[in-house]
Amino acid sequence: MLKFTAKALVCAISLSLAGLAQAEAPIIIKFAHVVADNTPKGQGALIFKKLAEERLPGKVKVEVYPNSSLFGDGKEMEALLLGDVQLLAPSLAKFEQYAKPMQIFDLPFLFDDLAAADRFQSSPQGKALLTSMEDKNITGLAYWHNGTKQMSANKPLREPSDARGLKFRVQASAVLEEQFKAVRANPRKMSFAEVYQGLQTGVVNGTENTWSNYQSQKVHEVQKYMTESDHGLIDYMVITNTQFWKGLPADVRSELETIMAEVTVEVNKQADELNQSAKQAIAAAGTTEIIELTPEQRGQWREAMKPVWQKFEGEIGADLIRAAEASNQR
Ligand code: LMR
Repeated sequence: MLKFTAKALVCAISLSLAGLAQAEAPIIIKFAHVVADNTPKGQGALIFKKLAEERLPGKVKVEVYPNSSLFGDGKEMEALLLGDVQLLAPSLAKFEQYAKPMQIFDLPFLFDDLAAADRFQSSPQGKALLTSMEDKNITGLAYWHNGTKQMSANKPLREPSDARGLKFRVQASAVLEEQFKAVRANPRKMSFAEVYQGLQTGVVNGTENTWSNYQSQKVHEVQKYMTESDHGLIDYMVITNTQFWKGLPADVRSELETIMAEVTVEVNKQADELNQSAKQAIAAAGTTEIIELTPEQRGQWREAMKPVWQKFEGEIGADLIRAAEASNQR
């Protein structure tokens, strides 16, 4: 009996010590993304880590994995659902298999500028998209800006006919495929990590992206021309695994939400500046001619690409498109 009691005591003590160690272990939040640190998203992830670890010392540890170093396109969403990563910020072009209305963000020439995108994202319709994938276990925490897309190729792109027959890398988005088909080019879906090599080896000969993504991936080394077309948007939704987020202790979750809101303000403030300085760095590198479009030329691209809206109106919803268009009015 005495032997039994002593054994039970040892067992109870070691169990409670294990419990204590467990209670003290910080919650690990892995934040994976595909871009470089010196981009709007790269900076956002680092600011989030800094603030979370400062304000929740010992409770939360954030590990940031940039440049597809943990998971790249194609694998990251699956990893989030499996619980192998807790935060991602995929480009808005990468959600079509989870919620068709998300395709709205890829419609060419939808938003006049980033401020309009911002107004739509903070409207009731924009906010509703953040929670529209919870049945798939994906919760949107915030929208982060990168910026507007520019086109690139090894020949000057001034008018839609200049793109004819070229092979353009696109993100995994049916809308973006249609956008390039509309100018009789050949779109090819390719993950972000493969873009430089794809352009270098000629698997593709053109692409679209923001200045900061071009510069940080050295795309200007393999593209002779970039056209300042501002024809679409690359923004992000910061997402988490719904079950993981809801399972966090309430005080931790609420502090992380406060931090996320602050980081969002900061990312969106810095994004344009980062893109403008990346554009200057590309110009200074001297490898790539930056082409400005006349209003007439830009109008031609708009006219050529706009029919894409009609093709996706059924999947996206006409009301949502109208709401996004209305955000162009201040
Ligand atoms: C791309 O794949 O071109 C971009 O969306 C990458 C990113 O996350 O900015």
